Amino acid sequence: MLEVLWNLPEQCEEAWQRGMAAALGSLPEVCGSGEGVAQVMVTGLGGSAIGGDLLRVYAQEEASIPFAVNRDYLLPAYVGPRTLVFAVSYSGNTEETLSAYDDARRRGAKIVALTSGGRLAEKAAADGFPVILVPGGISPRSASGYLFLPMIAVLQRLGILADASAQVEEACALLRRMRENLGPSCPEEENLSKQLARKFYQRLPVIYGTSGTTETVAVRWKGQINENSKAMAYYNVFPELNHNEIVGTEKPDPLLQRLELVFLVDSADHPRVQARRQITQELIGERVGGISWVEAQGTSRLARIYSLIYVGDYASVYLALLYGIDPTPVRLIDRLKQRLSEAR
Ligand code: F6R
Repeated sequence: MLEVLWNLPEQCEEAWQRGMAAALGSLPEVCGSGEGVAQVMVTGLGGSAIGGDLLRVYAQEEASIPFAVNRDYLLPAYVGPRTLVFAVSYSGNTEETLSAYDDARRRGAKIVALTSGGRLAEKAAADGFPVILVPGGISPRSASGYLFLPMIAVLQRLGILADASAQVEEACALLRRMRENLGPSCPEEENLSKQLARKFYQRLPVIYGTSGTTETVAVRWKGQINENSKAMAYYNVFPELNHNEIVGTEKPDPLLQRLELVFLVDSADHPRVQARRQITQELIGERVGGISWVEAQGTSRLARIYSLIYVGDYASVYLALLYGIDPTPVRLIDRLKQRLSEAR
């Protein structure tokens, strides 16, 4: 896991190139035709869905059509011939995604499969849809570059998103610099991820992002703590949490002192959110175990998103190590999938 994490910048570069080089068949003509694309839908689960969430938030600032993410067996009723569906499954064998793929095909949607192989690659190839193949052999959650960036590349090639190559370049260069301070050989005194893991140890991490900027990063931190550290974690977003969750910081007393909050900060957050964070800290800071502010680095949207993901990914692995746990296997997911396949 540590090695795969170290190589994230290289993975992002390769992922981008794969997306730019992928054979798209007649898709560019079909998308450019009168029918066009009215919405983009990413369907997937777990580590294969988070790239869809990242894409949805990323596209929000520039796309003129809506983006949505589906984590279910079937797609919403509005999906049809004018929907571009990315069917994403790292293994290519996740039953919900295969079912949603079939649903997309039945409805005449334009489909692109993003996978390392499996049934999804077979089906999409047999049906004549573009398949973007990424290398297998790592866990889906460590393949965040492979399962996100090729979609931006394809959308750029279809004229739905603007050229992102400079952003990819900045993100990769930034991650290369960051790993020197986040990687295993950097001592805890200088290593933000190790410091966060220490704070999370024997506590319940609660990650607060912001709608439209870091909301998916908050989901990602929670998921990575769940899957890598095998630990509970929760997330929420500003400004919504100011309208409900903030009130929940009165009870139960013994639990509140064990909450370790993180506020994710991005330069594109609404200025009022900055004020909300400050006031929230003043109002609830004494009630919870602790609050850390973690700021995005970099200039472009992509670099800022990935800078925060990198800090959280490393923190989740270090937390696993503090608990004496191997971050890689997800035995409960494997057992659940096995039991489900026997329950047919
Ligand atoms: C992440 C992980 C899960 C899977 C999910 C879907 O590392 O193991 O969240 O991503 O169960 O499986 P795939 O990604 O193969 O479609």
